[in-house]
Amino acid sequence: MFKKLERNEPCWCKSGKKYKACHEPFDDKVLHYQREGHMIPDRDMIKTKEQIDGIRESGKVNIAILDYVAEHIREGISTEDIDRMVYEKTVELGGIPAPLHYDGYPKSVCTSIDDQVCHGIPAEDIILKSGDIINVDVSTIYKGYFSDSSRMFCIGEVGEEKAKVVRVAKECMEKGIEQVKPWNFLGDMGEAVHNHALQNGYSIVREIGGHGVGIEFHEDLFVSYVTKKGTETLLVPGMVFTIEPMVNMGTNEIYIDDDNGWTAYTRDKKPSAQWEVTIAVTEEGYEILAY
Ligand code: MF3
Ligand code: CO
Repeated sequence: MFKKLERNEPCWCKSGKKYKACHEPFDDKVLHYQREGHMIPDRDMIKTKEQIDGIRESGKVNIAILDYVAEHIREGISTEDIDRMVYEKTVELGGIPAPLHYDGYPKSVCTSIDDQVCHGIPAEDIILKSGDIINVDVSTIYKGYFSDSSRMFCIGEVGEEKAKVVRVAKECMEKGIEQVKPWNFLGDMGEAVHNHALQNGYSIVREIGGHGVGIEFHEDLFVSYVTKKGTETLLVPGMVFTIEPMVNMGTNEIYIDDDNGWTAYTRDKKPSAQWEVTIAVTEEGYEILAY
């Protein structure tokens, strides 16, 4: 894992500098946390400036696609129409929709309505109606770099209760984002997300979480929101991952659709809401790369 190098060897980060003049003090600090019993990130979870620049460019495309969806989404269109918008906009901007054919996934985007927790599959016969709350989850490959973000949309007149779960889910993500800074722990983020959901009488899905992202769609780090402050992986500059809590109005129990093998639903059929960002840990705190 974090094996120290000889002091005059070239640094592992490929800066071309000697180890002692580059990441040696950083490694000493990380190894100190490890000796205290903390989980530390693998070196390949720490991205170079060039890689983060690439992910940022991919994120710009992802944001533009979601902005385009936001302009056109309305009552009466089908989720297949959203899929078409996402596919066409992605290609127009020079990207590739990451979900398409990923692990056999059949479409370019995930569209999850009401009690669908995530991974709803667009279809011609799913028509948006007034009162629906829908998550549109867009992921882009651009010049080889991956980005991933999602937003909720309220269709027509949405009732008070459903509007609240949409709002609180966004606040949960924001509370999590505030905890992203070097030398914090992933569990600090998770606890902040979870507490806000609990304070509002909601629950958070345990089985599905965020992930490392950038060089691949889903990288090693598992991002949970039912974790405790001071636990889970140490955050260091250069890490890139998603924060995407699924907030359920009722209990946290979910099941996966038997027929398509993808779509998660709430067991109690109550609504669920989710927002997602791709975020990088910086020297000072964080940078949102896709929203
Ligand atoms: N965007 C989803 C996520 O946040 C990706 C689901 S995989 C797919 O991880 F194939 F369904 F797109
Ligand atoms: Co994701």
